[in-house]
Amino acid sequence: MSQQAQALQTERILDDFAAAVIDGLSDFPRQIPCRYLYDARGSELFEEITQLEEYYPTRTEIGLLESHAAEIAELAGAGVVLIEFGSGSSRKTRLLIDALQSLRAYVPIDISDSALSDAEQRLNSRYPRLAVLPVHADFNQQMDLPDQICGARRIGFFPGSTIGNFSRTEAENFLARAAKLLGPGSALVIGVDLKKDPKILIPAYNDAKGVTAAFTRNLLARINRELDGTLDLDAFAHRPVYNESAGRVEIYLESLTCQQASILDTTFCFSKGERIHVENSHKYTVDGFQEIAKEAGWTAAQCWVDKRDYFSIHFLKHD
Ligand code: TRP
Repeated sequence: MSQQAQALQTERILDDFAAAVIDGLSDFPRQIPCRYLYDARGSELFEEITQLEEYYPTRTEIGLLESHAAEIAELAGAGVVLIEFGSGSSRKTRLLIDALQSLRAYVPIDISDSALSDAEQRLNSRYPRLAVLPVHADFNQQMDLPDQICGARRIGFFPGSTIGNFSRTEAENFLARAAKLLGPGSALVIGVDLKKDPKILIPAYNDAKGVTAAFTRNLLARINRELDGTLDLDAFAHRPVYNESAGRVEIYLESLTCQQASILDTTFCFSKGERIHVENSHKYTVDGFQEIAKEAGWTAAQCWVDKRDYFSIHFLKHD
């Protein structure tokens, strides 16, 4: 990308961020979309989260992929194209690439240009003969896949239980769009976190070292950095709550005092105990998830769950 195009893109992202923050904090209840958690510092902190003792999803999903990659490859068949939604951790992708037989190409789709070029570089150096064909797009919108993969069978990959960060309707819409994009004869390998005791869930979103708290509070620091904000970081606490009836962990930033702060030209007043909603992480049962997948046009072909019933990987087929 040219320097000018890069500058324009940065400006557009900043405008979107400003609008989302001002609108979201003017809403009742207040909320800020979770995608803004992942700036450079946020992505670094998230990487640290995935290595925490309490954060079981990453480790459990990698264990499942290690144990079942050969079966996944067998179900997928030979000569497929692997399409990943979000370019993700190369560790999970590598496990599939290593197992799939005569893989035709790898297509990472990501909204972040830097995440895409990182993925491209990593994989090019490890697999010099593999065609890596990045697509810069928001996978919640319509998009086109590269012409080079025309005619090949497609295997989608959506790990990390990122589907859990969507509402039920958004999850169903995503699955339906993926079915359309990947086409008849395709499959989708998707990681889904399972319902479990809140005694396990809550620490996964509130670790003892405070990395998760630093991750959510970084959103406030980002507002101060990029939108000329005056938020007092120490006056907000990280609060994860398990909402049993909705089956999800909800993550809030809670104001510890009655306070005022300005962001760009707007002043906001927070009362003591008032919360800003920053994330939902839905937990599913295997059956509950398969039902949604079915509504969206997928058939559940296989599902793997770890010994503790913490996490599931589904192999869905589209006839
Ligand atoms: N996809 C991750 C999850 O729902 C994202 C995540 C992990 C997260 N820890 C978080 C989001 C803390 C916000 C705050 O498990």
